[in-house]
Amino acid sequence: MGRKMYIETYGCQMNMADTEIVLSIMHDAGFDRTDFLSSADVALINTCAVRENAEQRIIGRLGDFNHYKKSNPNVVIGVLGCMAERVRRDLMESEDFVDLIVGPDEYRKLPTLIEAARDGERGIAVRLSRIENYDDIIPLRTQGLSAWIPIVRGCDKFCTYCVVPFTRGRERSRSQANVLQEVKEVAQRGFKEVTLLGQNVNSYWDDTNDFPDLLAAVADVDQSLRIRFMTSHPQDMSDKLIATIASRSNICSYIHLPVQSGSDRILELMNRTYTADHYLNLVRKIKETISEISLSTDIITGFPTETEDDHKQTLGLLQAAEYDGAYTFKYSPRENTKAWSMIDDVPEEVKNRRLSEIIDIQRNISLYRNRTLVGQTVEVLVEGPSKKSAADFCGRTDSNKMVVFPRNGDAVGDYIGVRIERANSATLFGTQEHAFHQPHAIIP
Ligand code: 5AD
Ligand code: SF4
Repeated sequence: MGRKMYIETYGCQMNMADTEIVLSIMHDAGFDRTDFLSSADVALINTCAVRENAEQRIIGRLGDFNHYKKSNPNVVIGVLGCMAERVRRDLMESEDFVDLIVGPDEYRKLPTLIEAARDGERGIAVRLSRIENYDDIIPLRTQGLSAWIPIVRGCDKFCTYCVVPFTRGRERSRSQANVLQEVKEVAQRGFKEVTLLGQNVNSYWDDTNDFPDLLAAVADVDQSLRIRFMTSHPQDMSDKLIATIASRSNICSYIHLPVQSGSDRILELMNRTYTADHYLNLVRKIKETISEISLSTDIITGFPTETEDDHKQTLGLLQAAEYDGAYTFKYSPRENTKAWSMIDDVPEEVKNRRLSEIIDIQRNISLYRNRTLVGQTVEVLVEGPSKKSAADFCGRTDSNKMVVFPRNGDAVGDYIGVRIERANSATLFGTQEHAFHQPHAIIP
């Protein structure tokens, strides 16, 4: 019987994809995955450092790992990911039950470090690399429908609030040939969707091909494969990229295009390198060029010095951009970043109030956008049973909207037509009309 490893993942899709790389490395070293901490020989936690509250949750969870270790002293406990980079010394000193601390560019060392830990040696590997992109590792994917494929690691943008350039290091792209090889493999295995991942996919560059080149080549691998990508930085959203998205029907009509704030003054303090006008012109161009495009954004409220007027400009931008969805965050100071030296002067209760105003406005806009689909038939990729009722299935539209519909002989991985009957701000509800494509076998 192989030894058992347990892993929990926090944070962004890049971390989910990294966990699949870790699973692959560990599998080759003879470890099988277990879904139960209580049966683990090695327990890993892949962490996120982007905001303080994410870190607090993870520290809390580490307490459970510690508890488990007290009754199973031989278990090896490892902290991976962005927190491993950010708080390595604190973790080593204050969390003495942690055996390993391994940053995002050092996962190849895991098996060796685990062996050393079994001999009582605590290990730390947090060097950031300019070249590591795990090109030769085939991620161990745990489902067979939707595959994440990292194409760029790290970030060179240095937005002043963001810890990512310090935890994930410099930007580096995989070669187009390697990405295409991976896309072909997942298509042959029956996957229906790939998501190309990077902190900023738009700056992809492999010394020959830019992101639009890569996106077009990926889309041409298999017409029945849906292609998604995230995240896009507005500064690098070129005309060529917009035209490429419009040129292929299997490139999804969905762009996650974080704006962060609607105030030029705050955008400058954030080092976002665009103005609100510039951004809204970009949105206009995208909406004119790509039919049925759906857009989402990230907003940070309460950045240092943000006034009521700055906040109103953010509300105004939300109205003007008419996003389909928004991820909203309260500003959280992060050590090492440029904004760390600014005073976090927006009181917590003001941040809370501004956040709920942003959420309220966006909820209405999302509701209005979703209601425009009532009466239409949309193509849905069936994902599985709906969370709320076993009698219903759910899936997503090309524009990334969640659709719930009564189960009707369809299988996970089918493309079906669903006529939308009602909508709330988060979900569309309808009934199946017809199948779009013949289902493919799903090989997990
Ligand atoms: N505080 C709050 N939100 C942040 N984000 C990144 N850094 C911070 C921070 N220090 C948000 C941004 C980014 C998203 C992934 O997380 O909106 O786009
Ligand atoms: Fe952070 Fe900005 Fe890079 Fe996004 S683009 S990861 S917000 S530094």
